[in-house]
Amino acid sequence: MARRTTRAWVAVAGTSVLVVGAVAAAALEAWALAAVGGALLLAACAFGLLDVRRRQQVVSAQLRALRTELQGQTEQVGELARSSSAGHDATLARLADSEQKLLRKLDAVSERMDERNRRTASIVTGVRKQVDLLDGHLLTDVQALDQLRARYSPRAALPRVAGWALSPSALLYLLETIESRGPGLVVECGSGTSTLWMSYALKESGGGRLIALEHDATYVEKTRQLLAEHGLSEWAEVRHAPLVSTPTPRGDFPWYDVDPSSLGPIDLLLVDGPPQATGRHARYPAMPVLHDTLVPGALVVLDDVMRKDEREAMSYWLEEHRDLDDLGRVVHGVQALAVTRN
Ligand SMILES: C[S@@+](CC[C@H](N)C(=O)[O-])C[C@H]1O[C@@H](n2cnc3c(N)ncnc32)[C@H](O)[C@@H]1O
Repeated sequence: MARRTTRAWVAVAGTSVLVVGAVAAAALEAWALAAVGGALLLAACAFGLLDVRRRQQVVSAQLRALRTELQGQTEQVGELARSSSAGHDATLARLADSEQKLLRKLDAVSERMDERNRRTASIVTGVRKQVDLLDGHLLTDVQALDQLRARYSPRAALPRVAGWALSPSALLYLLETIESRGPGLVVECGSGTSTLWMSYALKESGGGRLIALEHDATYVEKTRQLLAEHGLSEWAEVRHAPLVSTPTPRGDFPWYDVDPSSLGPIDLLLVDGPPQATGRHARYPAMPVLHDTLVPGALVVLDDVMRKDEREAMSYWLEEHRDLDDLGRVVHGVQALAVTRN
């Protein structure tokens, strides 16, 4: 820049000297000198013009280059803007997609939570009902046990009425039935506490007898022992009848090895065995085997009908024997059927 300024001053000073020299020579009428000075002035002007032109060309070229560069950069910026906007749009779309997916997942989770809450609420309601029922059953059983004790005067210790044994309410129902009906023959599938109590009822009503079918030799002895302790052996027979494969309309089942004709006409049949553990529909064969030995008007009492297995067995009985009348649940867990044929 400083060099250019110096060159400009040199050019201006040189031109001025030539102008002054040429004017002075003309004034002095030194025409040859004035002509040389004029020629040099013209040459200096031509050179200056050429230099200005050259410089203009350089500047133009630089401007063109700059314009091209600017254009290129503008295009790049545009490209960049476009690509970054496209990237931005794609990112936005991805974000929106993820958001939708998350919302859907959230909805599904909240639906599952609702469903779980509904199920939990229904379980809680069910459990509460069961507890209320249990409460009710417990009270009923305590009252029934009280009545049983008051009704008879057991002369020995009484066996527990819990777990495997008929509930006090069921026992009370049976004993009242025995006393009111005065059955000639009671047959019981599965011996135990009920054998003892029913023997008391038979003794009380003054007639009839009881045959208890028992598959397990240990309990044959235990129940016989119990009867003996209470002085009731003459009212009840505990018959050892191991479980054997027994044909029925629904196939073979393990059931008591007993000849029905050896029992006699049955007025009251209590089905409380074989135990569930001996197989599916363990109590079903009672009806196919004993049906024809039931007297008209006989009563059949099935325990444990809160279990699906027993309910199914009973529905088979009703399907296969049109003369059976379902009397419904008589006490908790116990269903009664009457033989309606004449
Ligand atoms: C469901 S229990 C019914 C017993 C009987 N009906 C009663 O209410 O006590 C069926 C079987 O349990 C067995 N059993 C009898 N007395 C038992 C006792 N004290 N403890 C455990 N099992 C017993 C016998 O094998 C019986 O056939």
